[in-house]
Amino acid sequence: MNDFLKPRDGLSSAGRYLSPQIDANVRLNANESPLPPLVGASVIEQLELNRYPDREARTLREAIASQYELSANQVFAANGSNEVIQTFLLTYGGPNRSVMIFSPTYVMHSKIAAITGTSVIDLKREKDFSLDTDFVCEQIEKEKPALIFLCSPNNPTGASDSEELPERILKLLETYSGILFIDEAYGEFANSSFVSLISEKRPLVISKTFSKAWGLAGLRLGYLLGPSWCIKEIENISLPYHLGAITQSVAVNAMKNLASVENQADDIIRERDRISEALKNLAVEAWPSETNFILFRPTNMNATEVWEELVSKSVLIRDFSKIEGLEGCLRVTVGTETENNVFIEALEEILR
Ligand SMILES: Cc1ncc(COP(=O)(O)O)c(C=O)c1O
Repeated sequence: MNDFLKPRDGLSSAGRYLSPQIDANVRLNANESPLPPLVGASVIEQLELNRYPDREARTLREAIASQYELSANQVFAANGSNEVIQTFLLTYGGPNRSVMIFSPTYVMHSKIAAITGTSVIDLKREKDFSLDTDFVCEQIEKEKPALIFLCSPNNPTGASDSEELPERILKLLETYSGILFIDEAYGEFANSSFVSLISEKRPLVISKTFSKAWGLAGLRLGYLLGPSWCIKEIENISLPYHLGAITQSVAVNAMKNLASVENQADDIIRERDRISEALKNLAVEAWPSETNFILFRPTNMNATEVWEELVSKSVLIRDFSKIEGLEGCLRVTVGTETENNVFIEALEEILR
């Protein structure tokens, strides 16, 4: 007999998103920007909040599209890139369809896949967390997944994918009909992007977010770039008026300061490289990063003990040490210069 007091089958594997929100003076755990966003306070006062927002989010999508020389009908916007991923998987995933992912990677890719009833083909990255192009292509040829998810640069390991990887995958997708999804949440901190590969002819979509370099994690805005035929199908699945007027307006306003956001991203990159240098003098193994965070593994102490001692010093970072493939690893988000100094000094004391 069905037990209708239980959630539907398949949801138990999804689990809850686990990342403790603990009060701390220095919060370097969620890959947010430590810098306030560059938005005028008057934006909200000018809105007619008694009215529904523009359902098509036309002005916002045009402003996003113009950053990439694309058109508004090649942009889908939603409440954070998590909602982008969810709407994409509701549209193109589901029963009898599979998504190929490469672990360790951003955990919500497989969680949202499970929630939408999409089966997950979970393959492992190399020891250094890179992806071997030949191995990836062999697996795609063998499994022919409906969807392939890359995350470049990858969270939580930090490196970008090689230039040839998406090109080789797209070549394979000429032999059967699947879609390549690339999550570029940290693209503003990276040396390269795959956005130039987007065209009406290729089954490629790329997600981005205002939560990282734009300093607007609290706003909840992410977007997907891709061919208009694909964006149109995703639009059809999203709820009417899903993107509020405040979100649309604040983001349009923020995009007037593109140059300042790029300067802030440069500051974060400089700080990231300074933390990486400091980690070289400590008993840790650290991985190269093209993001606003660094993955590292203490070599002379238990990682969770290090995490707990940092919390006791009011420094919060992220403990990944019990996740398969990330045993013993911690991840620190780049903060302000002062926050980073507090983190480095605290870690020095703990590992001494
Ligand atoms: C790789 C990656 N994608 C997507 C997201 C979701 O971001 P948001 O929903 O805030 O846009 C995150 C958040 O940490 C992430 O690391």
